[in-house]
Amino acid sequence: MFRIEVQPAGLTFESAPEDTLLHSAQLARVGLPYGCQDGACGSCKCKVLSGQVEQGPHQSSALSAQEEAEGWILSCTSRARSDVVLEARIVAGLADYPVSKMPVRVQALERLADDVMRVRLQLPATSPFRFRAGQYVDVLLRNGDRRSYSMASAPHDLGEPAAVDFHIRHLPGGAFTDHVFGAMKERQIQRIEGPLGTFFLRDDSSKPMIFLGSGTGFAPLKAMLDDWAHKAQTAEAGAPAQRPVTLYWGGRRLSDLYMHDWCEQFAANNPLMRYVPVLSDSAPEGWKGRTGFVHHAVMADFPDLSAHEVYACGVPIMVDSARADFTAKCGLPADAFYADSFVSEADKAKG
Ligand SMILES: Cc1cc2nc3c(=O)[nH]c(=O)nc-3n(C[C@H](O)[C@H](O)[C@H](O)COP(=O)(O)OP(=O)(O)OC[C@H]3O[C@@H](n4cnc5c(N)ncnc54)[C@H](O)[C@@H]3O)c2cc1C
Ligand code: FES
Repeated sequence: MFRIEVQPAGLTFESAPEDTLLHSAQLARVGLPYGCQDGACGSCKCKVLSGQVEQGPHQSSALSAQEEAEGWILSCTSRARSDVVLEARIVAGLADYPVSKMPVRVQALERLADDVMRVRLQLPATSPFRFRAGQYVDVLLRNGDRRSYSMASAPHDLGEPAAVDFHIRHLPGGAFTDHVFGAMKERQIQRIEGPLGTFFLRDDSSKPMIFLGSGTGFAPLKAMLDDWAHKAQTAEAGAPAQRPVTLYWGGRRLSDLYMHDWCEQFAANNPLMRYVPVLSDSAPEGWKGRTGFVHHAVMADFPDLSAHEVYACGVPIMVDSARADFTAKCGLPADAFYADSFVSEADKAKG
């Protein structure tokens, strides 16, 4: 066993040579940030201050050769080879949301667009499932593979019997989404594991927020919006003021913004929320929203992001471009950018 120290928090945990640093930290309830857990998104990137770490296979987009040479690692795919001191952000309170595997039942299937299905999964009555808006679960496939999906419901709004919504986009040829758009039927049983990930609102900040989504990257942002509105409605006297939020939702065409009307209605009901739809390919006649890349619309409206927090979710190219441009060109502090990147097997195959 090696001793791993995390600075600047000063937390420690032990890690066996065969275990990844992230897995060991999770067992010790030390909240290192993470997303895909598969070396593909970069959310778990941290720096080795001292000691030997063996970095496992990963995407170069998640950790470049230069970053590796500078001592950066991905905790989800690296293993200790000595005692180690890491520099990493700590996510507070993760241990309050235990991860478990459970059977769920498909309660409802509803097409939100030609290629987007709302899948409502009913949770087991026996085991309470606690999560934070923004987190995801892994669907466990019969062959042992897993696929990740973000919850589109807020924790206060699960209904009776309790069920969670997911927005799933069809990737033709995909192992799970072919099933969702083909043989999946209501009442079918599926196994999931969760809640997972560290993509959720940081309540300890008062900064105005930018929500940035592409396609079904809207799912966790919808959960976060519902949660944000609910917390404001139920806040006690003297609670901090509600933070303003601007949602930028991008797609190629209007049908990709499969809950466009819901967003407009939500903005009409919540004066502190602004909705900016952005289409990159084809806009309908009389389109009043924006066109182009969705993260460029943010940069045009907020050339100075130094006093903001950004929550971004969707395809890796959008998330990576937003992170790079916002920090390099708009003064966004690197630690004010939170993201879940929807990396797929196709992205991983690119290397
Ligand atoms: C944290 C996280 C949250 C996510 N949340 C959501 C969400 O809320 N909604 C959502 O729609 N998606 C989400 N995703 C993406 C999701 O997990 C899946 O990647 C996606 O649904 C595809 O799964 P699949 O099994 O259908 O396709 P896969 O089997 O993964 O295949 C994906 C595509 O790649 C092709 N492909 C497969 N293998 C290869 C290969 N070796 N080489 C080249 N091409 C290949 C397939 O033909 C297919 O077109 C999330 C991902 C992450 C990491
Ligand atoms: S690269 Fe480690 S969590 Fe995604």
